[in-house]
Amino acid sequence: MTNSTTPKKPKLAAIVAHANDLVIGRDGQMPWHLPADLKYFKACTLGSPVVMGRKTLDSIGRLLPGRDNLIVSGHPRKVTGQFETQPTNQQTTESWWQDPFEAASAGLKRAAEARQDYCFVIGGGGIYEQLLPYCEALFVTQIDLDVAGDTFFPSYASGTGWQLSELTEGQIDERNAYAHRFAIYTRSDTQVEQLSAI
Ligand SMILES: NC(=O)c1ccc[n+]([C@@H]2O[C@H](COP(=O)([O-])OP(=O)(O)OC[C@H]3O[C@@H](n4cnc5c(N)ncnc54)[C@H](OP(=O)(O)O)[C@@H]3O)[C@@H](O)[C@H]2O)c1
Repeated sequence: MTNSTTPKKPKLAAIVAHANDLVIGRDGQMPWHLPADLKYFKACTLGSPVVMGRKTLDSIGRLLPGRDNLIVSGHPRKVTGQFETQPTNQQTTESWWQDPFEAASAGLKRAAEARQDYCFVIGGGGIYEQLLPYCEALFVTQIDLDVAGDTFFPSYASGTGWQLSELTEGQIDERNAYAHRFAIYTRSDTQVEQLSAI
């Protein structure tokens, strides 16, 4: 039984924006400018733990404010595998992990402590590839844009177990030049690989 003091059981979710052919990056950046997606990303992830590869941190250029930042690297820059603070929503923290699965497990634990619904896997390509099998939800911004890329999102096409559960069309305007939509996919527990608890 749950009550107001019992932590929730959060889910691991991936959040990504991709252009046609699942392009997510080129030369260390996202090869488009779409402020509506950045706003959506912030609204979804604020207050939640976010797991990212070291190259994604470098491409963002700073920690994401108001979130627990869990960074995966073979050469951690500082404290490894620990948080230095008590969990509260919307605090900015940083921890470094040599193993993406340990980072995701720690992020889920942290999400439970902070009473968040999700720990988000935020990329890039290498981290999505490794952690998508463990995700129960997928938040995707689909951008109608043909662009060359060097980094791609794994396929989530029909047949991979993902089911569309929500779809919202984005608005084209003077700042958001490409047609885009925000889609949420889910899949049943039985199709999700389980992380070992840490
Ligand atoms: N469109 C989107 O939504 C989105 C989101 C995020 C990123 N991106 C784009 O994706 C690109 C970056 O993706 P990426 O695939 O090149 O890099 P990445 O996944 O962000 O980071 C890769 C790095 O993570 C560390 N790492 C990954 N797996 C590891 C493991 N098993 N053990 C230890 N360390 C591990 C390594 O860091 P070390 O080299 O330090 O050892 C590796 O070099 C950029 O273009 C970025 O703009 C797009």
